[in-house]
Amino acid sequence: MTRKVELRRVTPDDLPALAELERACFTAPWDEDALRLSYESPVEELTCAICGGDVCGYLCAAVIPDEAEVLRIAVSPRYRRMGIARQLLRVLTDDLRVNTVFLEVRFGNTPARALYAGEGFQELRVRKNYYDNPVEDGVIMSRTRDAKGGL
Ligand SMILES: CC(C)(COP(=O)(O)OP(=O)(O)OC[C@H]1O[C@@H](n2cnc3c(N)ncnc32)[C@H](O)[C@@H]1OP(=O)(O)O)[C@@H](O)C(=O)NCCC(=O)NCCS
Repeated sequence: MTRKVELRRVTPDDLPALAELERACFTAPWDEDALRLSYESPVEELTCAICGGDVCGYLCAAVIPDEAEVLRIAVSPRYRRMGIARQLLRVLTDDLRVNTVFLEVRFGNTPARALYAGEGFQELRVRKNYYDNPVEDGVIMSRTRDAKGGL
């Protein structure tokens, strides 16, 4: 199911809600200070998804002309499998017109790997023990704008 949600740029007022979302989604969550650094970075773009007036997901990406790296993507547990992460990822190609997107994902993160594979990302290589808490390999993936067709 794909639910239509409002996507918009993050504002400073969203940072507490993003910190809460981080705590619900990650074993090593970013706190409000880390989120503020990202928000203030000239190369990072933060987009949030709004469901029923609340922040239900967000994407943080480092964007340089033509290329982006996904730094964070998360959707609140109660809003998952509604197509929200897919819509957030497409902001990079559809709205920001980025050609190549890179990301790194935990080897065992089946939902995220399924999401990325479905969006046309290819696995480039595995980085041994890249992650902490818990220690786990990272899989580097990328996609180019034309990989999915129709964009
Ligand atoms: C990964 C995550 C962002 C996916 O968010 P989501 O909004 O539920 O994803 P979507 O609904 O857009 O899913 C799109 C596709 O991804 C795949 N997918 C998503 N969750 C899945 C799951 N739990 N199991 C299998 N496939 C899954 C499916 O192919 C899905 O399409 P479908 O529902 O039509 O079958 C979410 O599970 C999350 O926040 N996880 C914790 C944080 C995290 O791991 N972030 C990624 C770090 S690299």
